Amino acid sequence: MSKPQLIDVPARPVMFREQAYTAAETLAPGEREALMARARELLKAHNAVLVAHYYTAADLQLLADETGGYVSDSLDMARFGKEHDASTLVVAGVRFMGETAKILSPEKRVLMPDLEATCSLDLGCPADEFAAFCDAHPDRTVVVYANTSAAVKARADWVVTSSIAVDVVRHLAERGEKILWAPDRHLGEYIQRETGADMLLWNGSCIVHEEFKGRELAELREQHPDAVVLVHPESPMAVVEQADVVGSTSKLLNAVKTMDAKTFIVATDRGIFHKMREANPEKVLLEAPTAGRGASCGSCAHCPWMAMNGLRSLVHCLETGANEIFVDPDIAEQARVSLGRMLDFARAQQRQVLGDA
Ligand code: 13P
Ligand code: SF4
Repeated sequence: MSKPQLIDVPARPVMFREQAYTAAETLAPGEREALMARARELLKAHNAVLVAHYYTAADLQLLADETGGYVSDSLDMARFGKEHDASTLVVAGVRFMGETAKILSPEKRVLMPDLEATCSLDLGCPADEFAAFCDAHPDRTVVVYANTSAAVKARADWVVTSSIAVDVVRHLAERGEKILWAPDRHLGEYIQRETGADMLLWNGSCIVHEEFKGRELAELREQHPDAVVLVHPESPMAVVEQADVVGSTSKLLNAVKTMDAKTFIVATDRGIFHKMREANPEKVLLEAPTAGRGASCGSCAHCPWMAMNGLRSLVHCLETGANEIFVDPDIAEQARVSLGRMLDFARAQQRQVLGDA
């Protein structure tokens, strides 16, 4: 089996951590209810639907659920937005999710509570440097993670999310294709381990998941020997190796819903605890450790960019039309091809599952 090769671009997440800030909203008494009511009114008035990621604030998830919107992982956010007949999509998440929605639904207005909400993986993969990397390896099929800019997606043959990445790369490897992968090196390493594909990896990482620590996780497991360990594959291999379940946010949530265990150790953003608790209030959820021995903890297992989405900014964008997402039409047209391959692949997989049932 070949080993993944890591390309020699500087790792940048430390720099981004300084740039990011956690701006979780604090609301005055009574303000929450007033904002929730106003948001409901505005969503209806604008024929808008709220599509939220599991890492966003619990209030946004509650609002999405009760107004006919959707809370999910990034693959299902993309699918839901494309298929819904609302004329405005309000995407509570990070920038690449809003851009993906716009690329897939160019006829819809796409708003976001905060356009500054980005992602260290997207920031760490500038389109021009990435294009040069691709040009240097024309023999490889270019597969990129959804956590990238529209321009990077436009340069790719395939876009994948964490819920489908292993299956797509396995399919390509079985066809004899060699892979150029970007930007998350941890996810790339995990995909390579699962598929045995020949992969060349960009050197990017997620500032949240990179903080999970293998040694401290092993100690926590000793204290809770019956706990099931759930790990998002953006985490380092020392953490992934200890997992009972590795997968997308939806897969981890589903594990809590369907497995008999009482205690779960969760190595992903703690925003997902809202849905895990909602579905299974009797289960015990423990955060996987983020601070190593002697480390000054730079992480609290919560994405600082996801935290920029709040009720006030949601109401503001609906009231004013601020923070609309625009994607250059030529770039969008190309990115739609690589995103479309993923959606077609997912559809074919679903048909096969239904056919097999
Ligand atoms: P999912 O597609 O698993 O929801 O992951 C998105 C993400 O940004 C995780 O950090
Ligand atoms: Fe990006 Fe990590 Fe935040 Fe997900 S959790 S949006 S990968 S920085």
